Amino acid sequence: MKQPSTAELVAAARAARDRSYAPYSGFRVGAALLTTQGDVITAANVENASYGLSICAERSAVVAAVAAGSRSFQAIAVAGNGPDPVTPCGACRQVLREFPRGPDLEVLCAGESGDTLLITTLGELLPESFGPEDLT
Ligand code: THU
Repeated sequence: MKQPSTAELVAAARAARDRSYAPYSGFRVGAALLTTQGDVITAANVENASYGLSICAERSAVVAAVAAGSRSFQAIAVAGNGPDPVTPCGACRQVLREFPRGPDLEVLCAGESGDTLLITTLGELLPESFGPEDLT
């Protein structure tokens, strides 16, 4: 499968954002995970009347990917509906850290529209992190 470009991965995250369920915060987020096989798995944040049960787009995407049989990722794009690029929350950073590329995962952060992107890595966002290899 042809690798999606950065712009295509961000576009997939923005399309997923349209399916967000965020009636409480109004902050809609979409995520697109690129697997090492070249598949793109998308998800959005899903909120709940019991606010603490809400789940972010990034963790939703990881759960969807693992359920679909993918556990190895090259990159994730995240797109919020604010003017500035949205970066993964701390919980999502740790969940993303679990899988093989770990700190080398590429993270593309976008806002509502336009070209303003923050392109970074999980290692930059979560330095000196704890991962599965630390348990062995
Ligand atoms: N949210 C995400 O989905 N991803 C992020 O990176 C930041 C926050 C969601 C959680 C909640 O539904 C809403 O945005 C407001 O925090």
